[in-house]
Amino acid sequence: MIKIGIITGSTREGRVTLDVANWVLEISEQYQGEAEFELVDIAEYDLPLINTVPPLMLNRNYEDANTTQWSQKIDELDGFIFVTPEYNKTISPALANALDVLGPEWNNKAAGIVGYGSTFAVSAAQVLRLKLANLQIATVASSGALSIMTDFVDMTEFKPADYNVPTVLNVIDQTVNWAKALKTLR
Ligand SMILES: Cc1cc2nc3c(=O)[nH]c(=O)nc-3n(C[C@H](O)[C@H](O)[C@H](O)COP(=O)(O)O)c2cc1C
Repeated sequence: MIKIGIITGSTREGRVTLDVANWVLEISEQYQGEAEFELVDIAEYDLPLINTVPPLMLNRNYEDANTTQWSQKIDELDGFIFVTPEYNKTISPALANALDVLGPEWNNKAAGIVGYGSTFAVSAAQVLRLKLANLQIATVASSGALSIMTDFVDMTEFKPADYNVPTVLNVIDQTVNWAKALKTLR
């Protein structure tokens, strides 16, 4: 069974990433194919700011216990849906760090992106694609793009427009298919 992690994209107090990630998880229940989905909250891992040699050189031997737990979780997963905000036209430092602290755990897996921000997180999604490519994660073409102006009330209360649902189902479908294909490489 293909396992897909729905990864949150921020850790700050008052963040909305959990609302968006839970909504993606709810939509995944409508997915007709065979896959398991789980929400993975980067905040729960309380990761240290990267302070090691490049993780590829560590061969999964992390001194930090939280990083080890994070590594084990990512190793369990075949693909990811990254739920990302846009911070200054890029992804949050928390998500960047959560990606940077690991190496081989990410390789030869697939990902979809669901972004949210005042300009639909288009820049953040592009930056994320570049970073994921370097980690040998293949990103699918479809992506969810939510606006904090129209999909949120007062920029905080999440009320997504219905037309986003089929888009997210497409992201899920493409991610599962590529995750299946890439599993053969591992
Ligand atoms: C440091 C910071 C920088 C931001 N920069 C952008 C930006 O460049 N583009 C944008 O659309 N929204 C920007 N925003 C607004 C965020 O999209 C909005 O606050 C969103 O709720 C953040 O996600 P979070 O609640 O999960 O942290 C920024 C927010 C923060 C905190």
